[in-house]
Amino acid sequence: MSQPLVHAAQVRKSYGSNEVLKGIDIDVEAGEVVCLLGPSGSGKTTFLRCINQLEDIQAGRIWVDGDLMGYRQKGARLHRLKDKEIAAQRREIGMVFQRFNLFPHMTAIDNVMEAPVKVQGRPRAEVRTQAQELLDTVGLADKAHAYPNQLSGGQQQRVAIARALAMQPKLMLFDEPTSALDPELVGEVLEVMRDLAQQGMTMIVVTHEMAFARDVADRVIFMDGGVVVEQGSPKDVINNPQHARTKDFLKRLRAEHERVAEAAADLV
Ligand SMILES: Nc1ncnc2c1ncn2[C@@H]1O[C@H](COP(=O)(O)OP(=O)(O)O)[C@@H](O)[C@H]1O
Ligand SMILES: [Mg+2]
Repeated sequence: MSQPLVHAAQVRKSYGSNEVLKGIDIDVEAGEVVCLLGPSGSGKTTFLRCINQLEDIQAGRIWVDGDLMGYRQKGARLHRLKDKEIAAQRREIGMVFQRFNLFPHMTAIDNVMEAPVKVQGRPRAEVRTQAQELLDTVGLADKAHAYPNQLSGGQQQRVAIARALAMQPKLMLFDEPTSALDPELVGEVLEVMRDLAQQGMTMIVVTHEMAFARDVADRVIFMDGGVVVEQGSPKDVINNPQHARTKDFLKRLRAEHERVAEAAADLV
């Protein structure tokens, strides 16, 4: 029987007395692209950080490819894994953040090569070949020797994606990867993500890019207030939301898009 690649069951997370995730159940099949939508503060980032154990959780369980993340179960009890064991689990998961987080003192190709060489201990020559191929696939073949400050935000974000892929992850997490970009640079990053989805990568993408969600996602999950409010095909959730909170969120998002479009038109 095939199990989902990501299986999150009744995940609870608090910061002090503030419960941010209130029992999240989310499954993601291998090869599936899931877009996670929801208003600011609904717990989307926290959930991604719990998947790769940048945060510990107070209750529930998260499995990635059959591995219980962050914990070892003995009988009914969970024991936190050692930092080293958690780091090993995290290595299998690529993450791309809103901010590009490239090492500023390294060229694009050195950024891509860093973890495979230093963390995986793979041979430099082999890693260099792979890194150059990855830069090709994200459309940056000619920028291998550029430093981050010589690249646009969109180019930096594409390097960040190549860097995550260099670790040959089984899962990619994207946390609003285009929301820090100038509007004209958003498309080139989404294009790379679309290609990755087509190649069969399993992806969880937090985004406000509805066109991307509609075209690329297999499933859309709407979160609010630390719970999953509704989920389904993009067509169902985006075009025909069932819950008032989803409707309200989408309405506000559309109004915001229109404001941005009008402001841009005014400039022309
Ligand atoms: N490190 C933290 N310490 C305390 N509170 C946090 C921390 N990170 C997030 N929160 C709180 O958790 C809630 C959910 O945040 P977040 O997961 O970032 O939401 P989203 O990504 O959906 O905007 C917010 O109320 C936020 O203030
Ligand atoms: Mg967030």
